[in-house]
Amino acid sequence: MSLLADRIAALGTENAFKLGEDIQRCLDRGMDVIKFNLGEPDFDSAPHINRVGMEQIEAGNSHYCDPSGILPLRNAISRWVADTRGLDVDPARIVVTPGAKPPISFTLLTYVDPGDEVIYPSPGFPIYESWVSFVGAKPVPLHLEEERGFAFGPEDLERLVTDRTKVIILCSPSNPTGGVLSKEDLEGIAAVIRERCGPEVRVYTDEVYEKILFDGESHHSVASEEGMEERTVLVSGHSKSYAMTGWRLGWAVLPTADEAKIFKQFNINIVSCVPPFVQEAGREAYENPETQTVVDGMVAEFQRRRDWIVPALNDIDGMRCQMPKGAFYVFPNIAGVCESLGVIEAHEAMPAEVRARTSPSAMFQMFLLYSYGVATMDRNSFGSIGAEGQHYLRLSIATSMESCEEGVARMKTAAADADGFARFLEREQLWG
Ligand SMILES: Cc1ncc(COP(=O)(O)O)c(C=O)c1O
Repeated sequence: MSLLADRIAALGTENAFKLGEDIQRCLDRGMDVIKFNLGEPDFDSAPHINRVGMEQIEAGNSHYCDPSGILPLRNAISRWVADTRGLDVDPARIVVTPGAKPPISFTLLTYVDPGDEVIYPSPGFPIYESWVSFVGAKPVPLHLEEERGFAFGPEDLERLVTDRTKVIILCSPSNPTGGVLSKEDLEGIAAVIRERCGPEVRVYTDEVYEKILFDGESHHSVASEEGMEERTVLVSGHSKSYAMTGWRLGWAVLPTADEAKIFKQFNINIVSCVPPFVQEAGREAYENPETQTVVDGMVAEFQRRRDWIVPALNDIDGMRCQMPKGAFYVFPNIAGVCESLGVIEAHEAMPAEVRARTSPSAMFQMFLLYSYGVATMDRNSFGSIGAEGQHYLRLSIATSMESCEEGVARMKTAAADADGFARFLEREQLWG
């Protein structure tokens, strides 16, 4: 009998949380570290939202509450979904969750049996691939092409749909690429789903970055397309749009009230409920018009940084960076840098079992961190299945403009420092 259940080996992770140990090691050595790794706004939640949370605690609203979510918040979400997606949703179809992350596991546990196929974007939020593997489903990554701005077309999806497809995961605006699916993309995607998938197939649409769009774009949801509402689990939340990551507040709209009862049951089994004072603050975020002003200010600042950083990255020899349309990430292609620094060669020269534990982009990522004090995320942190030969980094621009400037200056020096890379490999011995 072994200590751990077999299923634990299949559980993935989110490296953005794990990188903290490496960053701490660098800080302990006296380095200062520019943090491009963080997946959260560098803004605090707005005062009018905070105030409601504090008042609610002081008024004693600090007990267990409805595991589906308090009705005033579910009503506010219903109105929000009507205003932004044109859908008429009964609050009985809404479940409030601690962040937008839990609905990913709830969905895979609810709909997917071992051997079923799940299509998900890659690069994409790593928790998709983690849970697909954990439930014993067959992972079917939908590889997003840089040339298409990391969106994809109906034909790309159609190629992957089979009789075993059970869940199709979409994410727009996307983490990690900042790609956005246009209204036309979504129309085509919906047409493929209507034609090729039975009514028991579920679409999971992760719209947690819905408010963070650039160049005046507005948000579109696949759930608004004809015939999609009854097949779609629509998920969003407060973490990114309202800079409320630590509050832990998200929600899911299910196709039916019966399916919502299953999500409620997961809440009961795992967390009981989301704190009621958090939910009241979340309701305030939707209902108080001041929120829009605060969000507009934050998004304008992200856009200013994007407009500065993309050309600056493109100015680095061997790097190529698309202009993201939303979220707060840039996702430069670093193949040329990996080539010229000898990273690819060094990776190929590793013994097979060591090579399998890393990748050229992870090696360059660690070189940037340990030798130049720049923390980024590597390509494989966003789904590794089928990602061989793809060399990218994710940089979060949720950090000050001064940090962006200093970080990119260091990256430019690092990208030309082949001797430094060789010394780094020798010195750190990170991969044994
Ligand atoms: C695409 C995507 N979905 C879901 C989440 C989880 O959000 P939350 O912090 O609300 O659980 C994240 C967080 O990084 C994300 O990037």
